[in-house]
Amino acid sequence: MKVIKDPKEMQHLALDARRQGKIIGFVPTMGYFHSGHLSLMRRCRKECDWTVVSIFVNPLQFGPREDLETYPRDLDRDLRLAAEVGIDVAFVPEEKAMYPPEYQTYVEVTQLTRGLEGFYRPGHFRGVTTVVLKLFNIVQPDFAYFGQKDYQQLKVIERMVQDLNIPVRIVACETVREPDGLAMSSRNVYLNPDERRAARVLYRSLEAAREALKSGTTCSAGLKAVIWGVLSREQMIRPQYVEIVDPETLEPVDRVERRAVVLLAAFVGQARLIDEGFLEMEP
Ligand code: PAJ
Repeated sequence: MKVIKDPKEMQHLALDARRQGKIIGFVPTMGYFHSGHLSLMRRCRKECDWTVVSIFVNPLQFGPREDLETYPRDLDRDLRLAAEVGIDVAFVPEEKAMYPPEYQTYVEVTQLTRGLEGFYRPGHFRGVTTVVLKLFNIVQPDFAYFGQKDYQQLKVIERMVQDLNIPVRIVACETVREPDGLAMSSRNVYLNPDERRAARVLYRSLEAAREALKSGTTCSAGLKAVIWGVLSREQMIRPQYVEIVDPETLEPVDRVERRAVVLLAAFVGQARLIDEGFLEMEP
């Protein structure tokens, strides 16, 4: 596996691969790999000829009171894992190469970023879309792989790609979970053993909502009450939001008609965790 730091060199290599007719697959990440990242990389490897993973903790998407400084990093381990999956190139740019002092261009998706994560993390998605568009231009992918775990991020990226006519196909990948249901996240390392145990209720609350829907509760108010009920029984959890939204527009729905998605965020100790779960009416 090649490890490349310089964006220009990365772009040259990618343009070369394109000229050779290779299908380029890309997995953008902030590193500290877990099985979620690896599943994206494996799928990318399976579906594309030439695969690139980027590892870059993007300062632009962190708020002033967020965890940029403490965000977990282990580049050597990440490179070893990516090589084991069979990824061709790891792109690991430095901050000054991505955002030199004269940098002044930003990408913003307006409507979809107003609520949910966008509300509690102002500027976050502007940082995400800006870096992802830069990475797309550098890596020149045909296919780019994103996890549903960050559901709003996935929808925001899809919107950007459509709106700006970016010739990349976005591939949505299912959330990979620990055996007890907790969604894999680099931020799970912040949890001490008690918090880790408590964090299980996030997934349990989603399951409880699915059960309630099965038993006939279709109104969002009732389903949200079920979720809040499960979460509030766990003292260590401080939920931030629970919303039931349309899977495409991310607008809150009053009632689950065919398909809706639950999106939630909660603090567990110092860690801020998010999760998602589809609610589907049986046909
Ligand atoms: P990061 O949090 O490292 O996640 C990289 C990719 O892995 C994202 O597409 C994310 O949705 C996916 N992912 C994370 N946990 C997952 C899980 N449990 N199951 C499946 N996929 C999972 O998301 C980012 O980085 C950044 O915002 C980035 C897009 C790289 C821009 O900086």
